[in-house]
Amino acid sequence: MTNRPRREAVNRRSILVGLGAVGAFLAIDLGAVAYANKWIGSESSRKTFLDGFRVVNGPQLGFRKNHAKGLAVTGHFESNGNAANLSRATVFRPGQVPVAGRFSLAGGDAHVADTVNTARGLGLAFGFPGREQWRTAMLNLPVFPDNSPRGFYDRLLASKIVPGTGKPDPAATAAFLAAHPETAAAMAIIKKHPPASGFGDSTFRSLNTFYFVNDAGARTPVRWSLVALQNSAPAPKSGDANGLFDALIGQLRGGPLRWRLLITVAEPGDPLTDATLPWPEDRHSIDAGLLTLTAAATEAPGNARDINFDPLTLPDGIEPSDDPLLSARSDIYAASYRQRTGEPKSPSPVQVSEVGP
Ligand code: HEM
Repeated sequence: MTNRPRREAVNRRSILVGLGAVGAFLAIDLGAVAYANKWIGSESSRKTFLDGFRVVNGPQLGFRKNHAKGLAVTGHFESNGNAANLSRATVFRPGQVPVAGRFSLAGGDAHVADTVNTARGLGLAFGFPGREQWRTAMLNLPVFPDNSPRGFYDRLLASKIVPGTGKPDPAATAAFLAAHPETAAAMAIIKKHPPASGFGDSTFRSLNTFYFVNDAGARTPVRWSLVALQNSAPAPKSGDANGLFDALIGQLRGGPLRWRLLITVAEPGDPLTDATLPWPEDRHSIDAGLLTLTAAATEAPGNARDINFDPLTLPDGIEPSDDPLLSARSDIYAASYRQRTGEPKSPSPVQVSEVGP
């Protein structure tokens, strides 16, 4: 089954705008960068990605090499037990577990000004530190722009802003899109789903497919999403470079924020290894419980700053699909983590104490 819109509906301008929306990724010729034959899992592929992030964004010492700008949050997840027949993971038994999380903006520039069109991320670690944990890093998009690590890398390189223009190189964009029609199709879908006004009213999605495995060993392909129960977020103050983060901090000061965890079950024929392809809207979803976030904290030693929200940190009862993005993500997040933890740190531009009442 595919849900690809007709390619003709996608024009170059909408793609450029859309690509900007997914983290201002575009345009450079790295020229001599050698493509590793084995894209993932080798030292050279990790180095290739880290070099790509550095060439496009600069060194960004101490920060994540993607989703560099962020804010730590804490709260808990209350499972209602509804997903326990699909997954034997402890987190889905009725009861509560602590959650550490991080809201972020896509892109590797830690000091970038917030814009409503930049993709928003939410990383979550469910469970007690040191015990079995479930980690997930989600986006407020309906689909991911790429279906392969190579696609991500090519888009990263094409995203470099040309000095003096404030924009990616149109020739690099055109070349990228010619080589990656799946991204053009995904961007058309993304464009049809305008973002919510802030972090607090955004729905975040896993986009990649996983398997839930139950006590009997039955494997069910699923995607998950966190659906905001607040249906609006405070408007960012105009001219505030941290407008979206500051609004979230203010909103959390006013009381807890809640999201419902929906587990969506695939039907035969649904795409399981391609995150650019959505599943039909009418797929059955299970309400698995409630995420409640209660506090925000500036990134600091010991909080979410130092967590690697590796999508393959999974408890018994959740398994990865064969989506090639998953192993790539796990490998490259670890490389980014190792690099950033060994670098000198400077303060995050998002400081909770600087946000007025
Ligand atoms: C091949 C594809 C991808 C690559 C190479 C990639 C790369 C990265 C890197 C290097 C980081 C920083 C990791 C760290 O230092 O801790 C990151 C963070 C993140 N990525 Fe990806 N990513 C990919 C796909 C995705 C997908 C499919 C999603 C969502 C469905 C996603 C969502 C996020 C989020 C939310 C964060 C921030 C997590 C945090 O706060 O630590 N990424 N990504």
